[in-house]
Amino acid sequence: MRNPRDFAKPLAVGAPDPLLEIPVKPSRMIHFFDASNEKMVAKVPEMARQADILLGNLEDAVPADRKEAAREGLVKVGREADLGGTPLWTRVNSLDSPWVLDDLITLVGEIGDRLEVIMVPKVEGPWDIHYVDRLLAQLEAKAGLERPILVHAILETAQGVANVEEIAAASPRMQGMSFGPADLAASRRMKTTRVGGGHPGYRVIEDPSPEGPDAPRQSYQQDLWHYSIGRMVDACAANGILPFYGPFGDIADTVGCEAQFRAAFLMGCVGAWSLHPRQIEVAKRVFSPEPEEVRWAMKVIEAIPDGRGVHMIDGKMQDDATWKQCKVMVNLAEMLAEKDPELKEAYGL
Ligand code: GLV
Ligand code: MG
Repeated sequence: MRNPRDFAKPLAVGAPDPLLEIPVKPSRMIHFFDASNEKMVAKVPEMARQADILLGNLEDAVPADRKEAAREGLVKVGREADLGGTPLWTRVNSLDSPWVLDDLITLVGEIGDRLEVIMVPKVEGPWDIHYVDRLLAQLEAKAGLERPILVHAILETAQGVANVEEIAAASPRMQGMSFGPADLAASRRMKTTRVGGGHPGYRVIEDPSPEGPDAPRQSYQQDLWHYSIGRMVDACAANGILPFYGPFGDIADTVGCEAQFRAAFLMGCVGAWSLHPRQIEVAKRVFSPEPEEVRWAMKVIEAIPDGRGVHMIDGKMQDDATWKQCKVMVNLAEMLAEKDPELKEAYGL
């Protein structure tokens, strides 16, 4: 194991010092775009006004013969597009692919000062993060960067889930993790053919009715992803990094998308991916706390200024632990209100 003092030192001579605190910014959605698509690139400044984070995707969904065009397109976006302060991320190709080395060399060399976070797909264990960590330090030193580029892992293989805690703790560069239900389903040999969301076959059913075996029985769909998202949230929170839900593939089903995003939000995720402008709106709605909840949280904090002891407020027991939950809610609301005047008004801040 690396000694904790070395954790704070750069991994290459001349590379910037690692960050010891991960910056927390509005991160309700990571909006994916294909930089090989000129029409989409033309819309980048407009997308940047809508989304909290913009991500140029180089991996899956970009065909093999468009990989270089996507990389070059992203360099152009990094150099020329006015993003008005919206962070620019990328998802590079997987570490076993023929493209990833050139992705990293080109992007860090050409637009390393614009890229905040590199998302690494199909991370299986801490060894994958260590590889990227050292390589990024060498490339940062060569490019003369002053700020380290952070790393975000996609949790989308069975081995990745088995090693999730070690991945979260692998480097001070780790910014967060996204849950990737499509690749995870394939890796686990789940019998599904979709990207996230529930499945009508995965359910519980009540006992047979005394009225006979053919009498109707209540049955409910269950959440296929609960266990793994829970593990990811705990691993991230335990290491001071940020968990995200990933993609929801049925773009037309905004109701299903909202339910999936909301479950992730309630479990502790800070945001989700948006694959279509419609999902930006869904994520904004879900990952900005409800004004009513925020007002309630403010009421609790106001009534218990020192956050201690036991208090009854509107018939509900409040103590140090509920006060801390209220603080989480109000801190998030205050951060989002600074970015969004409508929310500021809705929260009464
Ligand atoms: C995302 O990349 C996924 O595989 O779900
Ligand atoms: Mg994937």
